[in-house]
Amino acid sequence: MSFVVAIDGPAAAGKGTVSKAVAAHFGFAHLDTGLLYRVVGRVALEKVGPALDEAAVIALSTKVSEADLARDDLRTAAVAQAASKVAVIPEVRTALVEFQRKFAARAGGAVLDGRDIGTVICPNADVKLFVTASAEVRAQRRYQELADRGENTDFETVLEDVKARDARDSDRTVAPLSAASDAIRIDTSEMSIKDAIAAAIAAVDSKHG
Ligand code: CDP
Repeated sequence: MSFVVAIDGPAAAGKGTVSKAVAAHFGFAHLDTGLLYRVVGRVALEKVGPALDEAAVIALSTKVSEADLARDDLRTAAVAQAASKVAVIPEVRTALVEFQRKFAARAGGAVLDGRDIGTVICPNADVKLFVTASAEVRAQRRYQELADRGENTDFETVLEDVKARDARDSDRTVAPLSAASDAIRIDTSEMSIKDAIAAAIAAVDSKHG
């Protein structure tokens, strides 16, 4: 039997950590769908160049495989920006739909996190969560994460990056970032990660008898 948990929200809201913890708690598989867009963005930066020619990017997006998601060069700020640029191209989104729906349909349950899981990819998900936080809190977390990984950056730059991606993700015409009407909202601005995970597990528990 499949059981789908859809977790959406803006950049660096804590979706990844919450999703991994929910998946581990219930024994579900986890797909970070942002990685799909990051793979396309990364390969596009390498092969197509910063101008991101649309036709070439669309062709690349049809070739994303599970193995690509394990690349260790997907978490940089440059790749995040490239990902959000390729993610506005409708054909790129379409090319990635099947991969995500197949993952969601696997037996044993799945958690998918992203921007449009509860609205477009899995509108019939068993549980939908929308994990969010203020832009400043999200930028602080992302800044810490990048600094810990040795990336040379400053808080103001990261905040600008987060805001630019928020605007691009929310304003695009196809599958914009938005909470599904039946999503449970978890604002992690003033929550510890432990409390955010507990809230998410409780929400899933109430539906997963
Ligand atoms: O980790 P973070 O929240 O910063 O970003 P991500 O989830 O890895 O996503 C990177 C970019 O991919 C986002 O800014 C979106 O533009 C795009 N994305 C999307 O459009 N739809 C998804 N389901 C997931 C990511």
